Amino acid sequence: MDTAPTSLPRHAPLPLLVLGHGRDLATERGVECPGDLPAPADPDLAARAAAAKEALGDKVFVLGHHYQRDEVIQFADVTGDSFKLAQQAAARPDAPWIVFCGVHFMAESADILTTDAQTVILPDLAAGCSMADMATAAQVDDCWDDLIDAGVADVTIPVTYMNSSAAIKAFTGRHKGTICTSSNARTALEWAFEQTGGVEGTGKVLFLPDQHLGRNTAVRELGMSLDDCVVYDPHLPMGGLTQEQFDRARMILWRGHCSVHGRFSVEAVEAARREIPDVKVIVHPECRYEVCELADHIGSTEQIIKTVGAAPPGTSWVVGTELNLVKRLGQMFPEQTIAFLEKNVCYCSTMNRIDLPHLVWTLENLVDGRVVNPIHVDPDVAHWARVALDQMLALPGPTHKD
Ligand code: 13P
Ligand code: SF4
Repeated sequence: MDTAPTSLPRHAPLPLLVLGHGRDLATERGVECPGDLPAPADPDLAARAAAAKEALGDKVFVLGHHYQRDEVIQFADVTGDSFKLAQQAAARPDAPWIVFCGVHFMAESADILTTDAQTVILPDLAAGCSMADMATAAQVDDCWDDLIDAGVADVTIPVTYMNSSAAIKAFTGRHKGTICTSSNARTALEWAFEQTGGVEGTGKVLFLPDQHLGRNTAVRELGMSLDDCVVYDPHLPMGGLTQEQFDRARMILWRGHCSVHGRFSVEAVEAARREIPDVKVIVHPECRYEVCELADHIGSTEQIIKTVGAAPPGTSWVVGTELNLVKRLGQMFPEQTIAFLEKNVCYCSTMNRIDLPHLVWTLENLVDGRVVNPIHVDPDVAHWARVALDQMLALPGPTHKD
């Protein structure tokens, strides 16, 4: 049966967003670059970025996530995982401009954690995160209403992964929860359960939006069982859960995942173990539970770098995380043998939106006194998101002094 809506032309062209032009307000992903975006083939791009950065001096502070391209990360003043970058965002209060080479949720967090006199800039507003997009504020509010209807909201603490919009971080602050990252998820969960009687008690955690990080941490690190975890599907009435499931669950996991890490497979780990003698498998905790179960080490991007770096020369590794970082590990530690876990997994397409043309465009505009792509979080959202972020930063956990 033809179900096409009658009010629309049958073959209305889909809006096509050409890189650097146009704006899609519905997804908050503007990709407009007013003025000229330098051509990717311009051989002088690196020199132009260096010259602009030099001209800006201490006025600009460039933060770079480990998944950024080499061509971009070379210009970062600080590189790190999400936790370290959140800590470092506030490290240079005298710098009026913070250029965030990462994705949108990281830039939002940096805006929340820096002073009103500072402006955070994301060189390409299309650098979002597919996992963060899997939970909207309206869906999360509906979920909380479902928890109220099920009679469990009073004993539930939200723990929200950094990879989420500022609005969901604000929801977390309003409901007395905490943010976590991949490097402190265990501590965050322990804190959350302490609010409702401890890990051995009967309280619950609503974990947003990465079901894998939530499950891996609860089961592998806190000793819970897989049966303690249920998955809340925002597209189904009551999340697709029965009253009995709400009552018995300890971890209510949002049905979200990373489109990159979710693709690493058990078969790839088994193949690596067959083919590479004495290989060590290290993966990010956004990978699926079955994959993490087979790994030798699990850690955030910063922890992956430290673990590989600390191993004896001659160690063989397969690494299950974003490809830019895996390639960089090979350059950083040539005395080790480093391979990518799964040949069919691509770069994170949104992290890769930050390229040298966008960085040059951002920096050269700053030299000319123009701020492009500022990230401004609504003040009320920022207030409550900060409550949840400060809760995370107050937890005992990873410290990155370098
Ligand atoms: P880390 O916090 O381990 O760097 O990972 C964050 C992430 O997934 C960025 O996409
Ligand atoms: Fe989001 Fe996954 Fe990309 Fe990280 S790697 S930014 S979680 S899509």
